[in-house]
Amino acid sequence: MILKYVFFLFFVSKIAAIDTEVFEFDLLWYESNSTQPYLYKARSEITEGLRKSEKIQLNTSLESLSAVDLTFIPELKVLSLDNISLTYIKPGAFNNLPKTLQNLSITLNKIPQLDEGVFNNLTVRFLNLSHNQIRTIKSEAFDNMKDLTTIILDHNELSQYDLKFAGCQKLNHISIKNNFIEQLPANLFAAVSDNVMMVEFSYNKLNKIHKLAFDIKEFKEVYLDHNELTDAVVLIKLVKADKVNLSHNNINCLPKEFMENGLSKIKALNLIGNPLNCSCLHDLRKKVRKNIEFQKMSPLVKNINITLPEKDCVK
Ligand SMILES: *[C@@H]1O[C@H](CO)[C@@H](O)[C@H](O)[C@H]1NC(C)=O
Ligand SMILES: *[C@@H]1O[C@H](CO)[C@@H](O)[C@H](O)[C@H]1NC(C)=O
Ligand SMILES: *[C@@H]1O[C@H](CO)[C@@H](O)[C@H](O)[C@H]1NC(C)=O
Ligand SMILES: *[C@@H]1O[C@H](CO)[C@@H](O)[C@H](O)[C@H]1NC(C)=O
Ligand SMILES: *[C@@H]1O[C@H](CO)[C@@H](O)[C@H](O)[C@H]1NC(C)=O
Ligand SMILES: *[C@@H]1O[C@H](CO)[C@@H](O)[C@H](O)[C@H]1NC(C)=O
Ligand SMILES: *[C@@H]1O[C@H](CO)[C@@H](O)[C@H](O)[C@H]1NC(C)=O
Ligand SMILES: *[C@@H]1O[C@H](CO)[C@@H](O)[C@H](O)[C@H]1NC(C)=O
Ligand SMILES: *[C@@H]1O[C@H](CO)[C@@H](O)[C@H](O)[C@H]1NC(C)=O
Repeated sequence: MILKYVFFLFFVSKIAAIDTEVFEFDLLWYESNSTQPYLYKARSEITEGLRKSEKIQLNTSLESLSAVDLTFIPELKVLSLDNISLTYIKPGAFNNLPKTLQNLSITLNKIPQLDEGVFNNLTVRFLNLSHNQIRTIKSEAFDNMKDLTTIILDHNELSQYDLKFAGCQKLNHISIKNNFIEQLPANLFAAVSDNVMMVEFSYNKLNKIHKLAFDIKEFKEVYLDHNELTDAVVLIKLVKADKVNLSHNNINCLPKEFMENGLSKIKALNLIGNPLNCSCLHDLRKKVRKNIEFQKMSPLVKNINITLPEKDCVK
């Protein structure tokens, strides 16, 4: 009788132990510094190698992701959910990721909407959400990601930009290339206005940028190429940038204020592929030539690089 009871206890605890030792999804894991993947099948035994890995790629046939508990991999740095046909991520799904996680990549899926409560408070540094057919993102979706430095939203279907990034004090790179954004409102980057930003809006449908859109202290690089801008008023706030790319838009001249005060301050400006009008181009060439002479004489002035359209001007 007693023996039976002991055996029963042993059996129960064994099941309980097994229960905590498995994981619900298939995944590929990597030993640190190795590119050789190892396959873990869902609900099989978790090996010591997997426990120690720093990089994993999840796989699941579930389209909707509701909970991923990876606390059993305490050194995890890189987590990928790329190309696994996800269509929805439930708020709270990432509540149990190890704090060591640096890179989170969720790309090549089909996720039309990103809700608030999925990414908030995660301590990742790099977040790649490209190629997901994303159409809408809640403004607060990325708030309070205190270690986030880079967010990539390239190749999605966003038609407006109103992300807040409140409490993302380290954010310095936002990339939203190849989307359908038409306008940028004032004070876009209010929450990160003390940071030196690199922002990329190349290959959108921008036709209007509020003159105070980029009203922050400092920009490193600003990419607005391959859009539909007809004016370059945005430059007035970008004179201190290292590099501004306005190539392949519909700009016919630069704002007067910028011609007079900005042209000698901005470090690199690309205007290739714009229909600059003749008087404007003439004026610009003259000023650029003057700049170059000025650079030769003054060792303090460096790297001023204005690239003008190669073709003839528009009469
Ligand atoms: C991985 O490589 C880096 C740099 O090559 C090295 O510093 C680190 O100790 C290596 N880690 C392991 C676990 O081998
Ligand atoms: C993911 O799992 C599906 C089946 O659920 C399989 O067809 C596919 O090949 C797996 N992908 C990877 C990258 O292992
Ligand atoms: C995504 O997965 C599909 C099969 O599941 C594969 O054919 C395709 O090459 C993958 N795409 C990339 C970019 O890895
Ligand atoms: C995270 O991604 C960034 C950008 O792609 C890369 O430079 C960095 O090495 C990655 N970190 C790790 C730990 O793989
Ligand atoms: C993030 O953290 C803040 C402050 O701790 C908390 O108020 C908020 O509910 C958290 N948000 C989510 C989505 O967990
Ligand atoms: C983001 O993900 C896409 C698709 O997987 C990839 O092509 C791109 O290189 C990634 N970007 C960065 C900065 O890692
Ligand atoms: C600006 O964009 C054009 C087209 O994308 C590219 O060819 C060029 O290298 C970029 N220039 C700079 C200064 O980044
Ligand atoms: C060129 O553009 C400037 C600024 O928009 C304008 O003042 C000027 O009249 C234009 N010149 C021609 C010839 O169209
Ligand atoms: C100026 O910019 C153009 C176009 O981006 C580039 O090809 C060229 O190398 C740059 N020149 C210098 C001196 O940096």
